[in-house]
Amino acid sequence: MIVLDENSLDCAAELIKSGELVVIPTETVYGLASNALDGKAVSKIFTAKGRPQDNPLIVHIADINEADNLVSSFPEKAGILTEKFWPGPLTIILPKSDIVPGEVTAGLDTIAIRMPSHPLARKIISLSGVPLAAPSANRSGSPSPTSVCHVIDDMDGRVKAVVDGGNCTVGVESTVISFAQEKPRLFRPGAVTAEEIEDLIGDIEIDKAVYTKLDETIKPSSPGMKYKHYSPHADVIMVGGDQEEYIDFVKVQCSREGAYALCYDEDVPFLGAKALSYGKKDDFSEQARKLFSCFRKLDSMGAEIIFARVPERTGMGLAVYNRLIRAAGFNFIDLSKRQ
Ligand code: TXA
Ligand code: MG
Repeated sequence: MIVLDENSLDCAAELIKSGELVVIPTETVYGLASNALDGKAVSKIFTAKGRPQDNPLIVHIADINEADNLVSSFPEKAGILTEKFWPGPLTIILPKSDIVPGEVTAGLDTIAIRMPSHPLARKIISLSGVPLAAPSANRSGSPSPTSVCHVIDDMDGRVKAVVDGGNCTVGVESTVISFAQEKPRLFRPGAVTAEEIEDLIGDIEIDKAVYTKLDETIKPSSPGMKYKHYSPHADVIMVGGDQEEYIDFVKVQCSREGAYALCYDEDVPFLGAKALSYGKKDDFSEQARKLFSCFRKLDSMGAEIIFARVPERTGMGLAVYNRLIRAAGFNFIDLSKRQ
């Protein structure tokens, strides 16, 4: 895999124009990009990632005008959000136009679109002259990559090139909101929070799959919701409760070999060598930025089981909670409810 930098973006654009895949940096996570209007190029993404064919991709644009060709309508509320949050970590789902190949949307009649803010992502899209379909550049099921090293670990030998744009500043994937039904509905929480969205456009629905395990008989609103996601190789268990309860519990659990605590800075002095912090207790942005790289680090430390401390589900804490609970396969021990 060749590692390109900001001086060789032309090379990245040429590869994309010729139907190849290139991993690009974005502010959220690295993306595995191809020309979104070339169905054959898009299908290579599914092979490289090992991604299920029925899971649609997000299309990335560099200019708001490019969205008009991709959708058949653009509701006013969607416009209010894009005006405020684009470029940035917000994806909107709208009815698609005919030029979008079925490979991108996995046969759905809607399309997910986002305008990233990372300057290199924007330059690559502009130089390519086409919108880019790009899922997170991890192997399917693994934590999304937030640095070039993560991309190389997952994708070396599967993709020709990666553009190094440094560490991702957000660290979790974009907020996804759908305008395909009457009331706007949040499919995936991210750095643009539900509260910020409601302040601008009023009440939205939060899809049940954001916090809870879907019954297998229910068809998910977004195909990605049914897959296990973001997981390290180790098993993850979410642990709820206050600091004292968490520490007492985890101290006992972590005396076993291969057991580790994924905790807050404030917990480390009580847990010692078996603890890895993913940020300060009240700093959800820091937790989001560090979460996926902590998962990868714990794997490299030989973790077999990870006891993760759970953030509150407000603001960006909801995004962190959502990634953790999916990584844990909804495995949750709530110590506050124990006798
Ligand atoms: O931050 C991000 O969004 C990153 C960067 C690279 O931009 N991309 C990303 O893509 O996270 P991916 O493919 O890992 O996640 C896209 C999610 C999936 O869960 C997929 O099912 C959902 O968006 N999705 C895409 N198109 C959809 C559609 N038309 N209807 C419902 N869900 C859709
Ligand atoms: Mg992904």
